[in-house]
Amino acid sequence: MCGIVGYTGYKDATPILIDGLETLAYRGYDSAGVAVWNGSGIVMRKEKGQLKNLEEILRKEPIFGNSGIGHTRWATHGEPSYINSHPHADVQQKLVLVHNGIIENYLSLKTMLVNNGCRFVSDTDTEVVAQLLGYVYKGDPLSAILTVMRMIEGSFALAILFMDDPHSIYCACKDSPMVVGIGEDGAHVASDIPAMLAYTRDVTFMSDMQVAVLRPNGISFYNEFGQSINKAVIHIDWDIDAAKKGTYEHYMMKEICEEPVAFRKTLEQYVSVKDMRLKSDCFPWNADDVDKLKRIRIIGCGTAYHAGVMGKKYFSELAKLPVEIEIASEFRYSGHCFEEGEQLIVISQSGETADTIAAMRMAKQRGINVTAICNVIGSTIAREADSVLFTYAGPEIAVAATKSYLAQITVLFLTALYLGKLRGALDAKKVSSLLEELSKVPTHIQNLINERERIQFFASKSFASKHVFFIGRGLDYGLAMEAALKLKEISYIHSEAYAAGELKHGTIALIEDGSLVVALVTQRHLSAKIASNIEEVRVRGANVLCITNGYLPDIEGHCNEVWQLESLSEILSPFCAIVPMQLLAYYMAVQRGCSVDKPRNLAKSVTVE
Ligand code: M6R
Repeated sequence: MCGIVGYTGYKDATPILIDGLETLAYRGYDSAGVAVWNGSGIVMRKEKGQLKNLEEILRKEPIFGNSGIGHTRWATHGEPSYINSHPHADVQQKLVLVHNGIIENYLSLKTMLVNNGCRFVSDTDTEVVAQLLGYVYKGDPLSAILTVMRMIEGSFALAILFMDDPHSIYCACKDSPMVVGIGEDGAHVASDIPAMLAYTRDVTFMSDMQVAVLRPNGISFYNEFGQSINKAVIHIDWDIDAAKKGTYEHYMMKEICEEPVAFRKTLEQYVSVKDMRLKSDCFPWNADDVDKLKRIRIIGCGTAYHAGVMGKKYFSELAKLPVEIEIASEFRYSGHCFEEGEQLIVISQSGETADTIAAMRMAKQRGINVTAICNVIGSTIAREADSVLFTYAGPEIAVAATKSYLAQITVLFLTALYLGKLRGALDAKKVSSLLEELSKVPTHIQNLINERERIQFFASKSFASKHVFFIGRGLDYGLAMEAALKLKEISYIHSEAYAAGELKHGTIALIEDGSLVVALVTQRHLSAKIASNIEEVRVRGANVLCITNGYLPDIEGHCNEVWQLESLSEILSPFCAIVPMQLLAYYMAVQRGCSVDKPRNLAKSVTVE
């Protein structure tokens, strides 16, 4: 999705804007631009394609000045082109602005503006906001912004530079993330924290219908009525390197290699490791709340949804609770009848996914208590949920979620243990023995990462596969869903997950000579059953790779290759088994020459519905 940056201060703005845009590039974009006040006017440079194209133009025609705004655009209205790139100006050049989001009533506003003499140059909904702002502006930027905010419908984050007040950057948002912060040399705005980490770690998250005015020495905030308000400053302790690629070729590989740390950090937030005890004060329910709990509903999108699929199994098995899980974008249309005693768990790495936010708001309106599992402090979901169970994966930049998934299933598992204990479904001994075993998971993951060459070799033999089927039973089916998504989104190989027992009800018709089937067999008690399913595809010509939880004699003779993982309790084995699946997707994508960190058509943070 689009990315916004802005800076006003004592330093040269252009390099700061470009640095910020580079950090936001992971969100996905197809054009980029900047506008800088150069002391006598606002000068724009913009270009279609990669940021390096814009940088090339800036090398030839530099702009110097101390305040400016920048943007990476992910096209929605109007094709990716110079004309449609942001920033956009009003017809009288009183202001320029950059915008994230979608203006839903842009056509009616455009008609009104055209009838009043505005000439449009682009096809974007954003230019409508620029023209409208210019149209209502009578010398008071704040009042003009408040008027426009009331007129536009949809989602927006706006950073605006006015000719009359060029050392200030005006920011406003609704349903689109925006964060501001003040550093030693000036004030910054961005769509996401990493873009300003190099300058400040003390940030403020904008809320809907608020305005922030950035000046070199401070930031003022206003509510939708124009009244001055105070807002909390949050300290972000991610370090700058956490959001940089370092010596790794891709963020995705860096983030897979960070999994042992992400897992350990998350575990240690919720578990006192010296006595293997869950920290009850970290969970938002006491014994009374748990008594009243009748059902859990889980929602999320993509990988977060897949984490929820694992969560459903943990809650059912460990806490003996009924659980429903749904894709967030479908949740609103399901006509649910909520009952008393229901708890909604919303899962999101970014905390900014529009579908998840919309579903969460709908549930809240109906009086359902919402707990978020989220990786980003201060994000919309973290702010709006009734309580938050944070994951401690650190910034995740690659579009493909890896370490955040591991951290999400860790939190879900620990929450299920906590609820299971309070509900009397698990005794203290069982909980501490599972925690004991869980604390060894980072070492097992590290060993898998250290031995990744074997996976690379397998990928070098299999990357030409046209279809890959991931099969599993029980928890392994949930794992298969995530493995299939990982492979398809970054390697563009068609891949699907199937409950192994379901193959013979239709899908097996697709199996032909040389089809690649990856069988996940971490659930030992199901190994004999899945061995039969493996045979069914093998006799039809499939090559079968099997991932097993320790040595499984049932499986050995039935497949072409086995990756035997460290033997673990069945319920814990998926924590390790997901890692070779992520590595397999990574190496397949590298072999195929794909853009691993920024796959085609995808964005890291999906802030439109
Ligand atoms: O930030 P979120 O966890 O809410 O994002 C949800 C999905 O867009 C995300 O998990 C997506 O499916 C992954 N990038 C896939 O790897």
